[in-house]
Amino acid sequence: MKEQLNQIQQTAETLLRQADRTETVEELRVRFLGKKGELTAILKQMGSLSAEERPAMGQLANEVRAKIEGMIAERAKELGELAMRKKLEAETIDVTLPGKKPVVGKRHPLWQVLDEIKDIFLGMGFDVAEGPEVEYDHYNFELLNIPKGHPARDTQDTFYINDNVVLRTQTSPMQVRVMQNQKPPIRIIAPGTVYRSDAVDATHSPIFHQIEGLVVDKGITMSDLKGTLEVFAKKLYGDDTMVRFRPHHFPFTEPSAEMDAACFVCKGEGCRLCKGEGWIEILGCGMVHPKVLANCGIDPEVYSGFAFGMGLDRIVMKRYGIDDLRLLFENDMRFLDQF
Ligand code: DAH
Repeated sequence: MKEQLNQIQQTAETLLRQADRTETVEELRVRFLGKKGELTAILKQMGSLSAEERPAMGQLANEVRAKIEGMIAERAKELGELAMRKKLEAETIDVTLPGKKPVVGKRHPLWQVLDEIKDIFLGMGFDVAEGPEVEYDHYNFELLNIPKGHPARDTQDTFYINDNVVLRTQTSPMQVRVMQNQKPPIRIIAPGTVYRSDAVDATHSPIFHQIEGLVVDKGITMSDLKGTLEVFAKKLYGDDTMVRFRPHHFPFTEPSAEMDAACFVCKGEGCRLCKGEGWIEILGCGMVHPKVLANCGIDPEVYSGFAFGMGLDRIVMKRYGIDDLRLLFENDMRFLDQF
């Protein structure tokens, strides 16, 4: 029995020295010290020893158990430390490596120019109003003096949610919403996305952007319109920018006009950007039609106003010399990174 005990101790020692994983150490603990383990099996044979032999053998067995327990604890500790050291080594930070550049996004060119335009109007005492892109037909057309069957509807065919609800074709319904909810004096711009069922090409898109403007107060005249919009054009394109107004027609203004600014590249000489015209069309405008004021609960005998609407996408394209509208919507970073 003494030999058996010594044998067990030796085997345990050898195997533990070879063990290179904590799992193996645990397996060895079970193998030698567990309930069904080798040492336990020997202790069970103690009963067959004589009374004289028993105490010495019992002591030896306890010593062997204590030794094996000690070796197991030591090996487990060594392996634990080794694992920790390996982990720390793997995690070492090399401070001499070049850092990773964080990817910083930037504002889309459309919103950069919109911010600029907002600033210009905020500086003239305007507020910014925003409203729904899914709009009542009533607001988008009817109250703006475009009844069903009016030819202006043909040029603004859109996507119908149902007979009464459309994707707005213009930001002009914001005029109605503001006038219904606000008493004059009113001075707002309303930027936003608009929709028309146009086929996509270099200058058309079923989704684009407009900025609406509305001023209503007592005694507002065409000269207020001209003065305000001329200041706007000078702020956008430079102090020496000239503007011209051409008569036009919009159902919700009377009289109506379109405003051109002298081309900011050739200053009116004619160049590639303005297609030789010397002028760039900027916006539509006019004095708010008395019918529209009345439709929105404002007495046209007391109040008058002017309105304007411009296409943001066109302004951005001219600003940066972009010749294809689609580029603004494709989200290609190689393109967007240039602004
Ligand atoms: N809503 C017009 C369009 O989409 C643009 C416009 C013209 C708006 C004249 C106005 C305006 O407020 O007075 O073609």
